[in-house]
Amino acid sequence: MIVAIDGPSGTGKSTVTERVAELSGLPHLDTGAFYRAATLAVLREGAQCDEHAVVEVVRSAGLDQRDGGMFLDGEEVSAEIRLEPVTAAVSSVAAIPEVREILVQHQRAWVSERGERAVVEGRDIGSVVFPNADVKIYLDATPEVRAERRAAQTGEQSAAVLADILRRDAFDSERAASPLMVPIGAVVIDTSEMGFDEVVAEVMRHIEAKV
Ligand code: DC
Repeated sequence: MIVAIDGPSGTGKSTVTERVAELSGLPHLDTGAFYRAATLAVLREGAQCDEHAVVEVVRSAGLDQRDGGMFLDGEEVSAEIRLEPVTAAVSSVAAIPEVREILVQHQRAWVSERGERAVVEGRDIGSVVFPNADVKIYLDATPEVRAERRAAQTGEQSAAVLADILRRDAFDSERAASPLMVPIGAVVIDTSEMGFDEVVAEVMRHIEAKV
Protein backbone atom coordinates (compact mmCIF):
# COMPACT_ATOMS: atom_id res chain seq x y z
CA MET A 1 0.00 0.00 0.00
CA ILE A 2 1.47 3.33 -1.11
CA VAL A 3 -0.28 6.55 -0.12
CA ALA A 4 0.91 9.69 -1.95
CA ILE A 5 0.26 13.05 -0.28
CA ASP A 6 1.14 16.10 -2.36
CA GLY A 7 0.49 19.81 -2.07
CA PRO A 8 2.15 23.14 -1.36
CA SER A 9 3.55 24.15 2.03
CA GLY A 10 1.24 25.52 4.71
CA THR A 11 -1.53 23.01 4.04
CA GLY A 12 -0.66 20.95 7.12
CA LYS A 13 0.82 18.26 4.89
CA SER A 14 3.65 17.21 7.24
CA THR A 15 1.60 16.95 10.43
CA VAL A 16 -1.29 15.26 8.62
CA THR A 17 1.06 12.76 6.95
CA GLU A 18 2.76 11.96 10.25
CA ARG A 19 -0.58 11.24 11.96
CA VAL A 20 -1.91 9.24 9.00
CA ALA A 21 1.27 7.11 9.05
CA GLU A 22 0.79 6.46 12.79
CA LEU A 23 -2.89 5.52 12.39
CA SER A 24 -2.34 3.31 9.35
CA GLY A 25 0.87 1.70 10.65
CA LEU A 26 2.71 2.59 7.43
CA PRO A 27 6.28 3.99 7.34
CA HIS A 28 6.42 7.76 6.66
CA LEU A 29 8.70 9.21 3.97
CA ASP A 30 9.19 12.99 3.88
CA THR A 31 10.69 13.66 0.44
CA GLY A 32 11.09 17.41 1.12
CA ALA A 33 13.69 16.41 3.74
CA PHE A 34 15.71 14.69 0.97
CA TYR A 35 15.70 17.90 -1.11
CA ARG A 36 16.65 19.89 1.97
CA ALA A 37 19.52 17.56 2.99
CA ALA A 38 20.82 17.53 -0.60
CA THR A 39 20.74 21.35 -0.51
CA LEU A 40 22.65 21.37 2.78
CA ALA A 41 25.34 19.18 1.19
CA VAL A 42 25.58 21.66 -1.72
CA LEU A 43 25.86 24.66 0.64
CA ARG A 44 28.54 22.93 2.73
CA GLU A 45 30.59 22.30 -0.42
CA GLY A 46 30.02 25.89 -1.64
CA ALA A 47 28.86 24.41 -4.94
CA GLN A 48 25.58 26.32 -5.38
CA CYS A 49 26.70 28.49 -8.32
CA ASP A 50 27.67 25.68 -10.67
CA GLU A 51 24.88 23.32 -11.77
CA HIS A 52 27.26 20.53 -12.77
CA ALA A 53 28.98 20.71 -9.36
CA VAL A 54 25.58 20.71 -7.61
CA VAL A 55 24.62 17.46 -9.35
CA GLU A 56 27.95 15.81 -8.44
CA VAL A 57 27.62 16.82 -4.76
CA VAL A 58 24.07 15.43 -4.63
CA ARG A 59 25.16 12.22 -6.39
CA SER A 60 27.88 11.53 -3.84
CA ALA A 61 25.95 12.65 -0.73
CA GLY A 62 25.02 9.86 1.70
CA LEU A 63 21.30 10.54 2.21
CA ASP A 64 19.13 8.49 4.54
CA GLN A 65 15.90 8.90 6.43
CA ARG A 66 15.35 6.72 9.50
CA ASP A 67 13.77 6.85 12.96
CA GLY A 68 11.95 10.02 11.89
CA GLY A 69 15.25 11.84 11.25
CA MET A 70 17.21 12.92 8.16
CA PHE A 71 20.88 11.96 7.86
CA LEU A 72 23.65 13.34 5.63
CA ASP A 73 26.80 11.21 5.47
CA GLY A 74 25.82 9.58 8.77
CA GLU A 75 25.21 12.87 10.63
CA GLU A 76 21.70 13.75 11.78
CA VAL A 77 20.74 17.06 10.11
CA SER A 78 16.99 17.14 10.90
CA ALA A 79 17.20 20.55 12.63
CA GLU A 80 19.76 22.19 10.32
CA ILE A 81 17.76 21.48 7.15
CA ARG A 82 14.86 23.59 8.52
CA LEU A 83 17.01 26.72 8.94
CA GLU A 84 16.89 29.77 6.64
CA PRO A 85 19.98 29.11 4.46
CA VAL A 86 18.59 25.74 3.32
CA THR A 87 15.02 27.05 2.97
CA ALA A 88 16.26 29.91 0.79
CA ALA A 89 18.31 27.65 -1.54
CA VAL A 90 16.22 24.49 -1.78
CA SER A 91 13.83 25.57 -4.58
CA SER A 92 16.65 26.20 -7.03
CA VAL A 93 18.40 22.90 -6.20
CA ALA A 94 15.05 21.05 -6.54
CA ALA A 95 14.51 22.58 -9.99
CA ILE A 96 17.51 20.74 -11.52
CA PRO A 97 16.28 17.65 -13.44
CA GLU A 98 19.37 15.49 -12.63
CA VAL A 99 18.99 16.28 -8.93
CA ARG A 100 15.36 15.15 -9.08
CA GLU A 101 16.34 11.91 -10.88
CA ILE A 102 18.88 11.05 -8.17
CA LEU A 103 16.49 11.82 -5.32
CA VAL A 104 13.56 9.99 -6.94
CA GLN A 105 15.78 6.88 -7.11
CA HIS A 106 16.55 7.23 -3.37
CA GLN A 107 12.84 7.64 -2.61
CA ARG A 108 11.77 4.59 -4.64
CA ALA A 109 14.52 2.48 -3.05
CA TRP A 110 13.42 3.60 0.44
CA VAL A 111 9.86 2.46 -0.22
CA SER A 112 10.97 -0.76 -1.92
CA GLU A 113 13.15 -1.67 1.11
CA ARG A 114 10.00 -1.40 3.24
CA GLY A 115 8.00 -3.79 1.07
CA GLU A 116 6.23 -1.09 -0.98
CA ARG A 117 4.41 0.11 2.14
CA ALA A 118 4.56 3.84 2.91
CA VAL A 119 2.83 7.17 3.25
CA VAL A 120 4.94 9.49 1.08
CA GLU A 121 4.63 13.28 1.17
CA GLY A 122 6.00 15.73 -1.37
CA ARG A 123 5.21 17.71 -4.48
CA ASP A 124 5.47 15.12 -7.28
CA ILE A 125 4.68 11.84 -5.53
CA GLY A 126 1.38 10.94 -7.22
CA SER A 127 2.50 12.41 -10.56
CA VAL A 128 6.12 11.20 -10.96
CA VAL A 129 7.56 9.16 -8.09
CA PHE A 130 4.63 6.76 -7.57
CA PRO A 131 2.10 7.37 -10.36
CA ASN A 132 0.51 3.99 -9.48
CA ALA A 133 0.07 4.80 -5.77
CA ASP A 134 -2.98 3.11 -4.23
CA VAL A 135 -4.25 6.38 -2.76
CA LYS A 136 -3.40 9.87 -4.04
CA ILE A 137 -4.26 12.92 -1.99
CA TYR A 138 -3.61 16.57 -2.88
CA LEU A 139 -3.90 18.91 0.11
CA ASP A 140 -4.59 22.52 -0.72
CA ALA A 141 -5.54 25.78 1.04
CA THR A 142 -5.76 29.41 0.00
CA PRO A 143 -2.42 31.28 0.05
CA GLU A 144 -3.84 33.59 2.77
CA VAL A 145 -4.70 30.68 5.07
CA ARG A 146 -1.32 29.05 4.44
CA ALA A 147 0.46 32.33 5.24
CA GLU A 148 -1.51 32.76 8.48
CA ARG A 149 -0.67 29.20 9.58
CA ARG A 150 3.03 29.67 8.94
CA ALA A 151 3.09 33.10 10.60
CA ALA A 152 1.41 31.59 13.68
CA GLN A 153 4.13 28.91 13.81
CA THR A 154 7.16 31.13 13.25
CA GLY A 155 6.05 34.54 14.59
CA GLU A 156 6.81 36.22 11.23
CA GLN A 157 4.53 38.92 9.73
CA SER A 158 1.80 37.22 7.71
CA ALA A 159 2.06 39.77 4.84
CA ALA A 160 5.76 38.93 4.38
CA VAL A 161 5.00 35.21 4.60
CA LEU A 162 2.23 35.58 2.01
CA ALA A 163 4.62 37.26 -0.45
CA ASP A 164 7.14 34.46 0.08
CA ILE A 165 4.46 31.77 -0.40
CA LEU A 166 3.22 33.34 -3.64
CA ARG A 167 6.80 33.58 -4.96
CA ARG A 168 7.59 29.94 -4.06
CA ASP A 169 4.25 28.63 -5.42
CA ALA A 170 4.94 30.31 -8.75
CA PHE A 171 8.50 28.94 -8.84
CA ASP A 172 7.49 25.36 -7.88
CA SER A 173 4.49 25.30 -10.29
CA GLU A 174 6.25 26.87 -13.26
CA ARG A 175 9.53 24.92 -13.20
CA ALA A 176 9.98 22.59 -16.18
CA ALA A 177 11.05 19.54 -14.14
CA SER A 178 8.16 17.88 -12.27
CA PRO A 179 6.22 21.04 -11.41
CA LEU A 180 3.84 21.05 -8.48
CA MET A 181 0.46 19.91 -9.86
CA VAL A 182 -2.62 17.92 -8.95
CA PRO A 183 -1.76 14.33 -10.01
CA ILE A 184 -4.16 12.44 -12.26
CA GLY A 185 -6.54 10.47 -10.05
CA ALA A 186 -5.81 12.47 -6.88
CA VAL A 187 -8.48 13.45 -4.36
CA VAL A 188 -8.18 17.20 -3.71
CA ILE A 189 -8.87 18.24 -0.11
CA ASP A 190 -9.12 21.99 0.51
CA THR A 191 -8.06 22.33 4.14
CA SER A 192 -8.71 26.11 4.36
CA GLU A 193 -11.83 25.69 6.49
CA MET A 194 -11.00 22.31 8.06
CA GLY A 195 -9.49 21.37 11.41
CA PHE A 196 -6.51 18.98 11.69
CA ASP A 197 -8.61 16.02 12.93
CA GLU A 198 -11.11 16.51 10.13
CA VAL A 199 -8.37 16.40 7.47
CA VAL A 200 -6.80 13.29 9.02
CA ALA A 201 -10.21 11.57 9.15
CA GLU A 202 -10.87 12.41 5.51
CA VAL A 203 -7.50 10.99 4.37
CA MET A 204 -8.02 7.85 6.52
CA ARG A 205 -11.44 7.36 4.91
CA HIS A 206 -9.79 7.17 1.47
CA ILE A 207 -7.12 4.76 2.73
CA GLU A 208 -9.65 2.49 4.45
CA ALA A 209 -11.77 2.41 1.29
CA LYS A 210 -8.75 0.79 -0.47
CA VAL A 211 -7.88 -1.78 2.22
O1 DC B 1 8.08 20.23 1.89
P1 DC B 1 9.34 21.05 2.12
O2 DC B 1 9.07 22.52 2.35
O3 DC B 1 10.24 20.47 3.15
O4 DC B 1 10.11 20.96 0.72
C1 DC B 1 11.31 21.62 0.52
C2 DC B 1 11.50 22.01 -0.93
O5 DC B 1 11.70 20.85 -1.74
C3 DC B 1 10.36 22.81 -1.56
O6 DC B 1 10.90 23.96 -2.19
C4 DC B 1 9.80 21.92 -2.63
C5 DC B 1 10.86 20.88 -2.86
N1 DC B 1 10.30 19.54 -3.04
C6 DC B 1 10.16 19.08 -4.33
O7 DC B 1 10.48 19.79 -5.29
N2 DC B 1 9.68 17.81 -4.53
C7 DC B 1 9.32 17.04 -3.50
N3 DC B 1 8.86 15.80 -3.73
C8 DC B 1 9.43 17.51 -2.18
C9 DC B 1 9.93 18.78 -1.99
